[in-house]
Amino acid sequence: MREIVEQVIKELTVSRGEAELIVAALLEKPRFGIYLNDSVDQGTRKLLHTRLMQLKTGMPLEYVTTKMQFMDYSLHIYPGVFIPRFETEYFIELIGKLVDFVPERILDIGTGTGAISIALAHLYPDAQIFATDISDIAIRCARENIKKYGLGERIHLTQCSICDGASTKFDLIISNPPYIPSSRLRSLPKSVRDFEPMLAIDGGQDGTQFIELIIQQTAEYLNPGGVIALEIDEDTTAILKKFLQVSGYDKFSFKRDQFRKYRYLFIGNLKNEKSKDIN
Ligand SMILES: C[S@@+](CC[C@H](N)C(=O)[O-])C[C@H]1O[C@@H](n2cnc3c(N)ncnc32)[C@H](O)[C@@H]1O
Repeated sequence: MREIVEQVIKELTVSRGEAELIVAALLEKPRFGIYLNDSVDQGTRKLLHTRLMQLKTGMPLEYVTTKMQFMDYSLHIYPGVFIPRFETEYFIELIGKLVDFVPERILDIGTGTGAISIALAHLYPDAQIFATDISDIAIRCARENIKKYGLGERIHLTQCSICDGASTKFDLIISNPPYIPSSRLRSLPKSVRDFEPMLAIDGGQDGTQFIELIIQQTAEYLNPGGVIALEIDEDTTAILKKFLQVSGYDKFSFKRDQFRKYRYLFIGNLKNEKSKDIN
């Protein structure tokens, strides 16, 4: 095992700690469990080699192991499906802090792995959730994760664009949509550029195309007192503010992530914890 850890350090140019974490993830063991049985059989050695070569191409670890952690949930993930980020975990925490807000019907647009829906299903145990995605592989992946957590009766998946054909109204419409401006796609890290689906990332010319579509198309599906919550790019607050004002919205606020960047847009009449966020 020590020999394998050395090989990972060399091949991926990482520290010993990182190499141990990578080997642990590849073997699905806790970090210090990797040394417990120091000899590695031929089959495991071969598997590790194949996976190491995949990592060397820049493929994200999540795609190599087909597993990832989102909050308390251990999710399946496949190449072609967007890898949920820490910012989205924080987004869920912010939603959970909204005062006197217990949505009964939730729409999750662009569900990907199903991460947001699964977390919200636990946060609001009485809610019914409708999750959409246009991507076939994302829908299959979300279905697997929803089944894993026994939520098939409460999370309803539809493969469609935005919320085509929705026949009900919602208290919470949430999305982590594609929001990276097209001009910035080329400067994304190689692991994102080469491996993650552009369909999940490309937000059009200024990064707001999909967000504006969601706001326009979901207006008729929001219950009175309902909230639209969207993850956004930090550089798009001014464009979105103008769009909302021109579209006649006056109740909205931008909220910050854990790094103090404005990364979320909330539309609706919110009762928040005290905050200095911009309106
Ligand atoms: C940034 S990813 C977010 C995935 C997941 N919600 C998360 O937070 O990890 C955006 C998702 O939107 C989906 N998507 C892109 N265009 C769409 C459309 N027109 N209608 C519905 N979903 C779409 C993508 O397939 C992708 O799964």
